[in-house]
Amino acid sequence: MAQKLWDKNSSINKTIETFTIGSDKELDRFLAPYDVLGSIAHIQMLKEIGLLEAGELEMLRKGLKEIYATIQEGGFRIEEGVEDVHSQIELMLTRKLGDIGKKIHSGRSRNDQVLLDLKLFTRAQIRETTGLVQHLFHVLLEQSERNKEILMPGYTHLQVAMPSSFGLWFGAYAESLVDDMAFLLAAYRMCNKNPLGSAAGYGSSFPLDRTMTTRLLGFDTLNYNVVYAQMGRGRLERNVAFALASIAGTLSKLAYDACLFNSQNFGFIKLPDDCTTGSSIMPHKKNPDVFELIRAKCNKIQALPQQIMMICNNLPSGYFRDLQITKEVYIPAFRELADCLEITAYIIHEIKVNPDILNDSRYDLMFSVEEVNRLVQGGMPFRDAYKKVGLDIEAGCFVPEKNIRHTHEGSIGNLCNDQIRQQMEQLLQAFNFSKATQAEEELLK
Ligand code: ARG
Repeated sequence: MAQKLWDKNSSINKTIETFTIGSDKELDRFLAPYDVLGSIAHIQMLKEIGLLEAGELEMLRKGLKEIYATIQEGGFRIEEGVEDVHSQIELMLTRKLGDIGKKIHSGRSRNDQVLLDLKLFTRAQIRETTGLVQHLFHVLLEQSERNKEILMPGYTHLQVAMPSSFGLWFGAYAESLVDDMAFLLAAYRMCNKNPLGSAAGYGSSFPLDRTMTTRLLGFDTLNYNVVYAQMGRGRLERNVAFALASIAGTLSKLAYDACLFNSQNFGFIKLPDDCTTGSSIMPHKKNPDVFELIRAKCNKIQALPQQIMMICNNLPSGYFRDLQITKEVYIPAFRELADCLEITAYIIHEIKVNPDILNDSRYDLMFSVEEVNRLVQGGMPFRDAYKKVGLDIEAGCFVPEKNIRHTHEGSIGNLCNDQIRQQMEQLLQAFNFSKATQAEEELLK
């Protein structure tokens, strides 16, 4: 017999049931611990407003904590005939405690429940993503510092352009992650507002204490307007997806550079042997498959905001079942990005750079602007200097001066890595994850 929270004893079409449940049985498992945390906060509040007795609260809290432990031990699953995580947890509680278990849903709807679960899940995932970004950031800055004296060609149009350096190359991706984190922080702040109490999307006639659940769950504030709170579904996922896409954009560009620079025709960097893959026919091959996969996976993540927007496209206000489908693309994205961040950090740490690139005369002309600038500093007008060097090059008598001096902020000789590091630290502190963690620990005491 199917267990539905909304079952009023009419029979349920099995095909329709399978279709409407979709991937929820798998995906909702990621939300399970958060569903329990939300319920613990909700029942504490229900007691405060007189909808639960102190004894009932204690029994419910104990039951929920046991369910939480089952989830942590990996023993939680959504049973045959049960629709989703919200129904499963209520069912488990009711099996343990009888009718008291059915009291936890007063003043709630699965609409605010799933929204809350997604927000708590997202907070935890953002915390993990942030840690991985921070690690990659440090690896990049380390490589930038270690190799700051080593020059390499810079390109425009993939044509040899001007001198660059490994200090600049690695450091550029570190600074790119700073801006990605600013994006993620903005998404985190929008996420970290309590939707609980919006119920089906229109609040409740119970005098719910939403300020109390906001505090208990460690949110910064509330989504006040209950209609707006419900509009957060889809919007939350989209905003966070934009931040994930931004990080993915950094990784995919880095991955392409790495593939290119690792090619024999460039030979600027060398991937460690254990990070390359072979060919079934060509015995000499050491392919950069890892970076190719990072590039593709990260390009896929860059499509995530678009996918979410299309799923929610043109929905009016209020809940719609369409929103369930966002979970299919949203929930797995964190793991996919995490894998890419971890492996990128590992390889970047191991990468070897070629210190002798400039011995090859094909790069001589990238010093042309250095020569123009030297003449300008000697008093020649820029346009005349430009012309003279151009004619020297045409005549084949240009001699590159490879000893260069760049001093301005963010240039080869003055990377400003400390300033970049400071910006990152400021952003990381602003997340203030400990507030959320402490609140969650408190709920489980
Ligand atoms: N699985 C549903 C979702 O993800 C849960 C909310 C169901 N609410 C409803 N009114 N049918 O959206």
